[in-house]
Amino acid sequence: LEELRERIGQLVRSVPDFPQPGIVFRDLSGVFADADGLQDMASAIIAEVPSEVELIAGLDARGFIVGATVAARLGVGFVPVRKAGKLPPPTRSQTYDLEYGTATFEVRDNAVKAGQRVLIVDDLLATGGTARAAGSLLRQCGAQLLGYSFLVELTGLAGRESLVDDPDAGGVPVHSVLTLPA
Ligand code: PRP
Repeated sequence: LEELRERIGQLVRSVPDFPQPGIVFRDLSGVFADADGLQDMASAIIAEVPSEVELIAGLDARGFIVGATVAARLGVGFVPVRKAGKLPPPTRSQTYDLEYGTATFEVRDNAVKAGQRVLIVDDLLATGGTARAAGSLLRQCGAQLLGYSFLVELTGLAGRESLVDDPDAGGVPVHSVLTLPA
């Protein structure tokens, strides 16, 4: 796993002052574009995935790349958690807070079978608001949430705490392949 982390880390590009001054953007497209990088990414995530996972949920939009790659490798299904207005009815939705304003996630109404064991996968954990909203939405749909897996976790934003301490989530595990300062 350490070797995988090392190789993946070399494919992450850090871009200072994007999209705003003072922010370091962690560009993961180099991981996705590299044939070995994409496989290493999936291997590193799968190394910590609970074996009983039945369904991967990926978060719009970069979480689709990570989540679907992992699902295909595991041989399980994939459900996209989409930003509002993209899916035809019937859907279920959950609104969440962003740094400025709010956003809404939607999933197909019958995307999850009652009690199905679901892992949420996304490219990046920052404040945790996005992942937490997805967790809430999937539980509303009847999912048994097994945990959260990220390619990158930004430290210093308390995202991990926001997920682990979520009283509704019951202390599910949070895994990340790379940990980088925000
Ligand atoms: C980014 C990232 C995560 C989220 C993390 O997505 O891909 O989904 O922000 O932030 P948080 O932990 O503070 O909630 P973004 O909304 O930029 O969407 P994208 O994947 O479509 O670029």
